Formats: sequence, structure tokens, C-alpha cells
Amino acid sequence: MHIDELDTPHLLVDLDGLEDNLDRYQSYFSAHGIGLRPHIKTHKCLAIAHMQMSRGAMGITCQKLGEAEVMVAGGVDRDVLIPFNIIGRAKLERLVALTKRTRLTVAADSAVTIAGLSAATAAAGVTVGVIIELGRGGRCGVETPELAGELAALVDSLPGLELRGVMIMPAPPQIRPFLQECLAQFDARGLPYPMVSGGSTPAAFTAHEIPELTEFRAGEYPVGGMKHLQLGTHTVEQCAVRVLMTCVSRPTAARAIFDGGSKSLSAATFADDERGSLMGHVVEFPEARFSGASEEHGQVDVSRCEPQPQIGDRVQVIPVHPCPTFNEHDIIAAVRGDLVEAFWPVHARGAIR
Ligand SMILES: Cc1ncc(COP(=O)(O)O)c(C=O)c1O
Repeated sequence: MHIDELDTPHLLVDLDGLEDNLDRYQSYFSAHGIGLRPHIKTHKCLAIAHMQMSRGAMGITCQKLGEAEVMVAGGVDRDVLIPFNIIGRAKLERLVALTKRTRLTVAADSAVTIAGLSAATAAAGVTVGVIIELGRGGRCGVETPELAGELAALVDSLPGLELRGVMIMPAPPQIRPFLQECLAQFDARGLPYPMVSGGSTPAAFTAHEIPELTEFRAGEYPVGGMKHLQLGTHTVEQCAVRVLMTCVSRPTAARAIFDGGSKSLSAATFADDERGSLMGHVVEFPEARFSGASEEHGQVDVSRCEPQPQIGDRVQVIPVHPCPTFNEHDIIAAVRGDLVEAFWPVHARGAIR
């Protein structure tokens, strides 16, 4: 099928860009002897997860139990990390069920989480791996090395749990001294840490500067996004995620309206010093400023474009943040050049529990 036959707005993944990214990140991690554990919350798609595993990924990361259930049911079931505090009976029952279908590790940053995990797994006669989440402010994670050591000792002492190590997010080289202090607390107590997990795509290519890392969680690297374009980690060609849109109105000489808004791109914005707040990069009109959107209308300042998009023109827009963009769509068109090679469901779309 030719790409011109796709109706708009439509989520696209460019296969050349996707394969390039999968190969270059996997090659980097393989060359440095660090396991790559892709975070599938970005694409939520079994086809892409299988491509990551077949290139050498050691397992996957899923932010939510629901994502993990979809991936495991779809055969991506070798080794799964859920870097999230699992709280409450409903989730603990599902976690116990999942331990019977894959090698599972979860993160914890409190005695409450750890006690809940142990009670559920011990009662069911199963074991789950636990890593202590370390934090530097902003999100979850213990913020003192002492507490990391104490929680690790608690995990080690309770039934139904296997202490596997630590995780931290994000993991630029600057976190190394804190990480070392936390691991020293494990050493002081004679506790093991076979798993030392770093994460985030922008920090991926500096992972080797933290020799303690045994593995790395990266989510956005297969498809990039406008943020990665600005950071320089991905070229336009390597930004494999796009939303195909049609120009449907030209209310003024400066303004174009596309048929994709926040329900196609997501509402994520990116502030550019020169151009202000942006919602996407228009591949065919790089001078265009995708400055705002309502649900189904993208508002684009085209005053600097020469030529300008006309009503009926079709464009590809690279979103700011790929993860919520995938979550807005049921189906991905996997394209190579002008041809659609496959349609892939966004299998774990909406799996937020
Ligand atoms: C725990 C965790 N690990 C890894 C990642 C992947 O980072 P990125 O989205 O930069 O690839 C995320 C992203 O939010 C995350 O929350």
C-alpha cells in the first residue's frame, strides 16, 4: 500500500529510522558489556518489542503491571522489570500471577511497599526480585544511602523476596558518587547487588562512564522525538515516530490548520529559545512553527515557510514526546519510503494500571 492511501491523521513509524536506532543503541550497549533493557512504555507495541529482543535486549522494562501482562502474553516474556512501587491487593494478586509466567523484578522505595510484596508472594509460595529505587529528588526513590542499605536489608530478611540490587532514574554520569555511596551501604551489610540499573535515553551513550551499571533502561531511543532532535541524539531521519496530517484550512496568510491536534500528537510541548512553545516538528516545512493545538486542530505559524503548505497538502509531524503520542493511537503504519509495510496495533495502549 502507498502512504498516500492512508487517511489522516495517522501514526507512522519509519522502519529505516527505527532499525537504525535499534541497531546503534544495541551495538553501544553490547560493546560496553551493559545489558539493554528497553522500556516498552514508549511504543507499547509487541512487534517493536520483539525487534528489540531479537537484536540482543536482555529483557524489557514495563512501567505498569498492565503493560507487562500484555507483553508477556505476546511472548516478550524472558525477563521483566517493573520500576514502580506496587501497592494494594488488586495489583499484588496480578503481580503474583505474573511471577509464574516470567522472571520478574520490581522496584521499591519504602518498607510499606516491601512488606506488601513479601506478604503477597510468601502467601502464594512464589518469589519476586526486588531492587531498591534510589532518587535524587523530583520523583520516587530513597534519597539517602543509609535508607537504601536499610531497605535492602529488609528485603533480604523477608520471605518471598530476592534482593537483586538498585535502580536510578535518570542516570547521567553525575549520579555516580551517590550510586557508589548507596552500594557501599550494601557492601557494609554483605548484601548482593547483581542488578545496577540506570536509565533515560539522553543519558544512554554515557552509561559506560558509570562502570557500576550492569544494565540500562531506555524507552524513547527507537523512535526519538522533537526533544531528541533538539538535543542532537537523533536526526530528522532517526526520529521515526511521526503523525501524518493534512492541511485543512488556511485562515490567514500566516496560519495553517492541520487535522491533528492534542488527540493525535498529545499535548506535550517543548520550549525553544528562539521560537517559543512548540508541539511538533513539521518535516516537509522545517520553518513552520507548530505552536498550539485543540483536540483535533493543529495551529501552525507558516509565515516563515517558502513555499507554504496549501489546503490538501499532507505533512509528517514529529511529536515532542513519543510516549503519550503512541498512547493516543490504536494502530501504527510501519512505513519504508513511500510504502506501508505493516500495520501494528499499539497493544498496551491505555494499560495504566
Ligand atoms: C523508570 C524509568 N526508566 C527508564 C525510562 C526511559 O527513559 P527515556 O524515556 O528517556 O527513554 C523512564 C522514562 O520515563 C522511566 O520512568
